[in-house]
Amino acid sequence: MIPKVYILDDDLTFAKLLAVNLGQAGRFRHEIFEHPEKLFDRCAEEPPDAVVTDLVMPEVNGIEVTSRLRRTDPHLPIFVLTGHAEMDTAIAALKAGANEYLTKPVNIDELTTLLKRALDERPLREEAALLQQVRKEEFAVHTILGEHPKSEEVRRFVKRIADIPRPTVLLLGESGTGKNLVARAIHYSSPHSKGRFVEINCSALPSHLLESELFGYQKGAFTDARESKRGLVEVADAGTLFLDEIADLSLELQAKLLNFLESRRFRRLGGTEEIEVSQRLISASNRDLEEAVSDGRFRADLFYRVSVASHTMPPLREVKQDIPILADHFREIFNREFRKEVGSISPEALGILESWDWPGNVRELRNVLERAMIFADGPVLHPADLPELGGHELALDAVAPDAGFTLPKGLALTEVEKEYIRRTLAACDGSVERTAEVLGISRKNLWEKRKKYGLLE
Ligand SMILES: Nc1ncnc2c1ncn2[C@@H]1O[C@H](COP(=O)(O)OP(=O)(O)OP(=O)(O)O)[C@@H](O)[C@H]1O
Ligand SMILES: [Mg+2]
Repeated sequence: MIPKVYILDDDLTFAKLLAVNLGQAGRFRHEIFEHPEKLFDRCAEEPPDAVVTDLVMPEVNGIEVTSRLRRTDPHLPIFVLTGHAEMDTAIAALKAGANEYLTKPVNIDELTTLLKRALDERPLREEAALLQQVRKEEFAVHTILGEHPKSEEVRRFVKRIADIPRPTVLLLGESGTGKNLVARAIHYSSPHSKGRFVEINCSALPSHLLESELFGYQKGAFTDARESKRGLVEVADAGTLFLDEIADLSLELQAKLLNFLESRRFRRLGGTEEIEVSQRLISASNRDLEEAVSDGRFRADLFYRVSVASHTMPPLREVKQDIPILADHFREIFNREFRKEVGSISPEALGILESWDWPGNVRELRNVLERAMIFADGPVLHPADLPELGGHELALDAVAPDAGFTLPKGLALTEVEKEYIRRTLAACDGSVERTAEVLGISRKNLWEKRKKYGLLE
């Protein structure tokens, strides 16, 4: 299909000339309009592929035309033509949503190129917008679950911060309490976030690599730098930079980060040009930063810089009333993932979940539910599906009557697993076949686990 362009201009002679030129070689079809209202009526009847409008017209000006068209079609290519280039009107046109403004006399080749590119890019823009919308929903504030007042407070914090254009936020709290979740929610629910959410874990890389990740490098800065590379602070421009595990930054990088935060400028490694960026900064730590400050491992001035707004996430054991809500949420997630139809969690199983101490917090709850859901094969999740938390007694008793045992609370899950395998092996008189059957895993898997835990005689 040849794309159809609607041209709006009170100067009909000009409009016709433009149309003839654009239509050359059958590149575009066109319709010409002298009055904005006629254009709007026609657009409602048959939407165009693109619109080219004059700026100064007696009835409605090109900027109003643009914003009206933009409201009904957020991705329609719109080009505004101005008699003489005025910075103010150009900016106003772009703000109203025009793709470009061009000055008369119009360079037909330029307009043709711009139109073609806009038409080609339209599907990509639509897809990007859709993806952004999906993310916005996926990471919306209401996905942070929990009815405990402390959980409500977390959501209130997110909403408050999202309203601030360029906040500097510090999220504290034990591992698995939802710091990453909250950082994303702040980014995606902020009306100010136009750029990307960029995350980096400060403990995952050695200091020099982390530095080049953060600030980028110029070609030739070091032996391997064959190309220049943008740093994450550049990539996150206008968006959010999330520094996870900030306590693990080396003192040297802490100094550089502080410098950057104070000026919002930086140089790439080996670069001379100062680059200015603007973004939200969110940092997180599961360690006690104040203690790190008093130990001299974390700079006090940087601590004050990054903790302008700070929130400490509650550990799960302090918001136990949220356990049923969270457990149900994960049950639904894993129902979808594993194509199961487990409709509920039995009160006994919930009792076990509520009495556990959850040193690994919500992440641990999620993992426990994931494993339980792998093995669950009825409509209801029972204690037997939670062997790691002591629910195993029932399961084991059923197949190996003498093997009932309890484990001390607070063991790491891997230790529980090791202990569980060791005792099951003993209860089954060392029979690999039977042990694998009781545990519901393959013999190969059992052998691998025994190897891992040093349980091969
Ligand atoms: N309130 C909550 N509602 C729903 N899901 C949650 C909540 N809190 C945490 N989660 C989920 O628990 C898991 C762990 O959360 P997250 O990764 O955000 O923890 P964290 O505090 O960043 O941990 P770490 O310090 O180890 O990085 C994720 O799957 C997250 O989606
Ligand atoms: Mg995290």
